[in-house]
Amino acid sequence: MAIKFGRPLERSGSAPSPISEPRQEAAPERLDLAMRPRRNRRAEWVRRMVREHVLTTDDLIWPLFLVDGTKVRTPVASMPGVNRLSVDEAVRAAESAAKLTIPCLALFPYTDPTSRDDQGSEALNADNLICRAIRAIKQEVPEIGVMCDVALDPYTSHGHDGLVRDGVILNDETVAVLARQALVQAEAGCDIIAPSDMMDGRVGAIRAGLDDAGFTDVSIMAYAAKYASAFYGPFRDAVGSNTTLVGDKRTYQMDSGNTDEALREVELDIAEGADMVMVKPGLPYLDVLHRVKEAFAMPTFAYQVSGEYAMIVGAVDNGWLDGDKAIMESLLAFKRAGADGILTYFAARIGEQLKKGGA
Ligand code: PBG
Repeated sequence: MAIKFGRPLERSGSAPSPISEPRQEAAPERLDLAMRPRRNRRAEWVRRMVREHVLTTDDLIWPLFLVDGTKVRTPVASMPGVNRLSVDEAVRAAESAAKLTIPCLALFPYTDPTSRDDQGSEALNADNLICRAIRAIKQEVPEIGVMCDVALDPYTSHGHDGLVRDGVILNDETVAVLARQALVQAEAGCDIIAPSDMMDGRVGAIRAGLDDAGFTDVSIMAYAAKYASAFYGPFRDAVGSNTTLVGDKRTYQMDSGNTDEALREVELDIAEGADMVMVKPGLPYLDVLHRVKEAFAMPTFAYQVSGEYAMIVGAVDNGWLDGDKAIMESLLAFKRAGADGILTYFAARIGEQLKKGGA
């Protein structure tokens, strides 16, 4: 006989057997259960009362793609609903995000192909697209945080995050450039520098560079455990590095089979001065997120990346999933796993939903 919470689930002799004939007696005998977990789920008010994890707009970081021009909104084919925005449109998006009390934006540039070269020199141009967007947003919407990627891939003709010589990524030379790129962004007013390049030693070099220049209040969110993932495909479409990328990023981004290595990466970034750490991609790496939060108790973020966005939107657009519900459930999964916040292209959509009180 099945036993649950120390008591038999069925009373001997009285429980109907699934294979026996239906009994003639009217009411089946009540099970003698001390614990009935369903009591805590019987109405919305009690479900809300006992809920352990909730999503609020404070948990959201909204990634935006930028493009040159004015009044430009170019759809990203592999990310239905996402547009590349010119700076003026990005300011408008920042205003709507601030109204929804989304605390922070993450900016990514689509660099005109004519401005890309093998050194990624446009990354160091103090008047590049990203710097113009930072200045405009900080001026018009000063209450919202602005975070920027540090990596060379939107700027290089070969699509890699670092400098390349004879097919080899040059770690230390790249780190020197990244530290300068971070400084250029900090000078433009960026609040959080987010190195996404996965070079060894870059967090320490960036921290030192920022401090030496007096930017002690500029934070670093390290893409600490960033995996070499097929789920970045649509992002590369959005920033225009998909067609240019030569080879893959497996000599610097992490191998999907590893989790101990993620802890070592996170430990190094914290030791080098990261204020916050990130695990990326999101849902396919929830186990890593959980281990990182448990091990270090740092502000820990998850990136629900472009491919995850595309998968959900693809199914929703086909009528196979209920969008609002599926998106909310996916974001709540990050909270359950230990995330303090989530970078998600759904930020504005879910922000609207939260504001309406829907969950
Ligand atoms: C660039 C960068 C990538 C993403 C964020 N920063 C792509 C990559 O590493 O190739 C991916 C984000 C996404 O897929 O949504 N270093």
